[in-house]
Amino acid sequence: SKKITIAIDGYSSTGKSTVAKQLAQKLNYIYVDTGAMYRAVTLYALQHGFIAEGKVVRDKLITALSNIQLDFQHEEDKPVAQIYLNGRNVEGLIRSLEVSGFVSEVAAISEVRKKLVEQQQKMGNGKGIVMDGRDIGTVVFPDAELKIFMTASAEERATRRFKELQEKGDSATYEEVLHNVQHRDHIDTTRKDSPLRKAEGAIEIDNSALTLSGQFNTIYQLAMDRI
Ligand code: C5P
Repeated sequence: SKKITIAIDGYSSTGKSTVAKQLAQKLNYIYVDTGAMYRAVTLYALQHGFIAEGKVVRDKLITALSNIQLDFQHEEDKPVAQIYLNGRNVEGLIRSLEVSGFVSEVAAISEVRKKLVEQQQKMGNGKGIVMDGRDIGTVVFPDAELKIFMTASAEERATRRFKELQEKGDSATYEEVLHNVQHRDHIDTTRKDSPLRKAEGAIEIDNSALTLSGQFNTIYQLAMDRI
């Protein structure tokens, strides 16, 4: 059977990564969480004082971009690769509400996108990849054999993200999480460079009412039809 490229895009917290990971595991494909890359750049900006008084200092961040090295590495016993920022595993630091609060501003900067998109395209060179994000079907892999566009109501998505944060012991409230989800959706859909859009040829899946296994089976079938 041939190897294909699978692009999964959609709004924040639609469960893209859950289904993308399952799919990659089942097909024995590489999984790449591009949101983690934008989050790691945001973490770097926070750690280096490039976010001050609630604003991203664009010029400083752009100048520092060449000092930022991102890669994904597998820990011994874990099936999914984790993200490393300049050699340090930052998987546990990038999902905080603080990073979430600035990541869309960082991701709207063209120089940031250019750097990350180049790296993503290299990772997908050999096909056999499932990549999730906001611009995978539109910009990173416009020729992907399967493109999925995931949607769900903002309340449903905030509930999911809230539960996830609670399980990690994060003290964010539901209202804060809902506000963050809506804030990111707004910036992600209205930015000039690579706004979140349903790509040409993408199949839209509203998973508000789908179970995880129902959603997985639907997408798995779509992939098998193309392999
Ligand atoms: O997928 P996740 O919610 O972790 O992504 C965090 C943020 O990174 C998004 O809200 C968006 O601003 C940005 N992003 C992006 N393009 C991608 C992936 C993520 O702009 N391909």
